[in-house]
Amino acid sequence: MKHETVCGLDIGTTKTCAVVAVDGPSGLEIVGVGEAPSLGMRKGVVVDLEETIKSIEAATEKAERMSGVHLGEVFVGITGDHIRSSNNRAVVAVSGEDREVSSGDVRRVIDASKIINLPGDRQIIHALPRYFTVDGQEGVSDPIGMAGGRLEVDTHIVTGSSSFITNVLKCVQRAGLEAVGLVFEPLASSAATLLPEEKQVGVVLLDIGGGTTDIAVYSLGSAIYTATIPIGGNMLTNDISLGLKTTLAEAEEIKKRLGAGVRDGESEETFAVRTLDGRGTKEHTTATLRQIVVPRVLETLRMAKQKIIENVPRDLVLGEVVLTGGGALLPNIGAIAEDVFGLPVRTGNANTIGGLTDAMSAPQYATAVGLVLFGVNGDGDDASRMRRRSGALFNRVQRWLADLWT
Ligand SMILES: Nc1ncnc2c1ncn2[C@@H]1O[C@H](COP(=O)(O)OP(=O)(O)OP(=O)(O)O)[C@@H](O)[C@H]1O
Ligand SMILES: [Mg+2]
Repeated sequence: MKHETVCGLDIGTTKTCAVVAVDGPSGLEIVGVGEAPSLGMRKGVVVDLEETIKSIEAATEKAERMSGVHLGEVFVGITGDHIRSSNNRAVVAVSGEDREVSSGDVRRVIDASKIINLPGDRQIIHALPRYFTVDGQEGVSDPIGMAGGRLEVDTHIVTGSSSFITNVLKCVQRAGLEAVGLVFEPLASSAATLLPEEKQVGVVLLDIGGGTTDIAVYSLGSAIYTATIPIGGNMLTNDISLGLKTTLAEAEEIKKRLGAGVRDGESEETFAVRTLDGRGTKEHTTATLRQIVVPRVLETLRMAKQKIIENVPRDLVLGEVVLTGGGALLPNIGAIAEDVFGLPVRTGNANTIGGLTDAMSAPQYATAVGLVLFGVNGDGDDASRMRRRSGALFNRVQRWLADLWT
């Protein structure tokens, strides 16, 4: 079978990452990865077609060389300030004479939930079923085969600006690839890092990238709120560069090494920073660094929290915050996030796919790895189920795509 590979393409603000996975004997296995700097993206959207095409080509070439697989069809991540999400509910009458819910009924009711008031320049990216209701019985996860006359679905709908989406697709196509699925990036990051139990109890995933901070909130097993904030780690590098009067490269290095400075109770350190002209160095303390970094991190996390508070039901239970994206590596960010959210915080390392090297399980690759999982599984919810069903991989990919593009 020649179509047994699944590829994810994460075109981020700082890096483009391609992941190739093959449906092998022991399940889905990563066989190639490629990464290249992204120079044509800003805050998650394309601002330079040629540069973006170049980075896609560079990343895919590397992934091809490593895997020996020629990349054709790819699942592509999408993000940016243009993305909106909402929840919708639809109802249909069960069609069969036997009053048994069929896959056709499920498809019809999901389609019905996609009928929303949408301005002409926007399109639906996802209509993810949260749960079904059969004859008033709520909370049904798989209604197929159940007896009933009335089928309802609650879906999480994600929409985006058609022109922003078209620009991404143009780049993908001109790099010689075919986008077979679009995935809102925090959903991909979630697919790679969140456990079914966490999604059930209630969890916030924050993917802190270079240009955006993407949010996905799960409750009772499915996404209930998704959003993005146009602030990411690059802003922090800028702040440090301005605050310590040094180059962006030096600021980036300091950010990665010292992050939010030392913890409370630890003694302050002094460090040398190269001056802007590159000729000398100047001493700064971690206290100064903290005064620059902490307010920006707090601002970003508080914005995320505020958005969540405004958009989820008041009685929603949340048990944890999971951080992905390069920003999750900022030294001491966990403690700040714990203070802001009042919840335990962990770093989201990809954990549900074979052939994953330690390097690729790092949080900045969660989106790329998750794109592959999402491509296979719809929402990558259950990796073990995916392994068992791996023989029918491509049927499922096609079914899911049929849903996606309708
Ligand atoms: N060790 C580290 N400490 C702090 N920040 C880091 C570290 N490593 C990477 N970063 C930051 O993470 C950001 C890049 O993260 P990531 O690779 O997830 O972004 P991206 O996917 O390219 O961008 P986006 O998702 O916003 O479009 C950069 O701002 C980088 O400085
Ligand atoms: Mg990213």
